Amino acid sequence: MRGTRQGLVDGVRDRLVREDGQRDGRALDDEQLAQALRASGRVLGTTALRELTRTARAELYGAGPLQVLLDEPGVTDVLVNGPDEVWVDRGAGVERADVRLGGPDDVRALAVRLAAAGGQRLDDAAPVVDARLPDGTRLHALVAPVCEAGAVISLRVLRPHAFDLAALVRAGTVPPAWEGVLRELVARRASVLVSGGTGTGKTTLLAALLALVPGDERVVCVEEARELAPDHPHVVPLTARRPNVEGAGGVDLADLVRAALRMRPDRIVLGECRGAEVREVLMALNTGHEGGLATIHANDVEVVPARLEALAALAGMDRAAVAAQAVGGLDVVLHLRRARRGTTTRRHLAQIGLVRTGERGALRVDVAATWGGAGVPVAGPAHDAFARRWSLPGRAG
Ligand SMILES: Nc1ncnc2c1ncn2[C@@H]1O[C@H](COP(=O)(O)OP(=O)(O)OP(=O)(O)O)[C@@H](O)[C@H]1O
Ligand SMILES: [Mg+2]
Repeated sequence: MRGTRQGLVDGVRDRLVREDGQRDGRALDDEQLAQALRASGRVLGTTALRELTRTARAELYGAGPLQVLLDEPGVTDVLVNGPDEVWVDRGAGVERADVRLGGPDDVRALAVRLAAAGGQRLDDAAPVVDARLPDGTRLHALVAPVCEAGAVISLRVLRPHAFDLAALVRAGTVPPAWEGVLRELVARRASVLVSGGTGTGKTTLLAALLALVPGDERVVCVEEARELAPDHPHVVPLTARRPNVEGAGGVDLADLVRAALRMRPDRIVLGECRGAEVREVLMALNTGHEGGLATIHANDVEVVPARLEALAALAGMDRAAVAAQAVGGLDVVLHLRRARRGTTTRRHLAQIGLVRTGERGALRVDVAATWGGAGVPVAGPAHDAFARRWSLPGRAG
């Protein structure tokens, strides 16, 4: 049965590829898909047709056999390590999912198809890809020889409802006591770095902060793959592009940050600092482009300086230069944590850090306040220094 169905879906896919020019790459609606399936000449009952239309849609435009998992409410990540190893994060850490994908070749084919749906190629010449699927799901995939079993696929679900700051407070991610200071940071154009480990909600908080940017400001967002969709009327999304087979046409994040500077931005946003582009961002923040926002991967707020130094070293900047630029350009670090509570995990804004110069001009991020995810936040060593600039409630004691 699976063979026949697969044959039908493949037939439709072949037709779509042939007719793509006429459709301009637009997806078929259910009626058109059903028609295409009927046109295969095989007799299909109504129920079978309806079911097949759904499968075909998932296969053609979605994540195929993984789509059911992605559609489950509460699922944030779907991870494929190999044909018989699919994991899913429903909010309580990763669990094994009962999905079989066939053999290594099928997993590889799935990864290649997903990458293509995200407008990227994935093959021996370009074995690693970051993309965004048409429904917004973020895709990271790599194929052999970088991995063993066909392909390793990581999908991150983007829930259609974006959290605004009030929703993050209601969800227990941001303590009510900090809502005011976050609003103030955006309104008074502080340059903010959102830090945290993998999947701690950095991008989500960044989008919520961007939604607070006044509507008459122009926001230019630079990203590796498009992910940020803040609730703001004036956003220019710029996404990096890999070079083609001849090695031409690549546009990296640093190129895009430089381009953004010439686009009359009121705010420059870097979805994630992950390499040498950190130099361009720090330079931008030091040359009159205050109010910028970015995320950075760091497991602790104290390691943010080391992380910035490591990234900037990729761009040939030494520690002293990074420190000078970071202290001049960045104001605040907002650090997120993800903690397990019973059967679920909760994300919370754990620390507010102040960017400062330490001994011998070293870069430091000092904790102004800490929150454990419940109760009231506690003042940290840099509380008073922070409170002299922004209105952070509480007092060092
Ligand atoms: N406060 C929250 N409450 C519930 N779910 C959340 C919250 N913040 C984020 N999520 C969900 O968790 C997942 C990860 O969020 P997000 O992409 O913002 O994290 P991230 O830290 O940017 O991840 P990465 O390290 O992969 O860039 C998403 O599916 C998102 O919808
Ligand atoms: Mg992110």
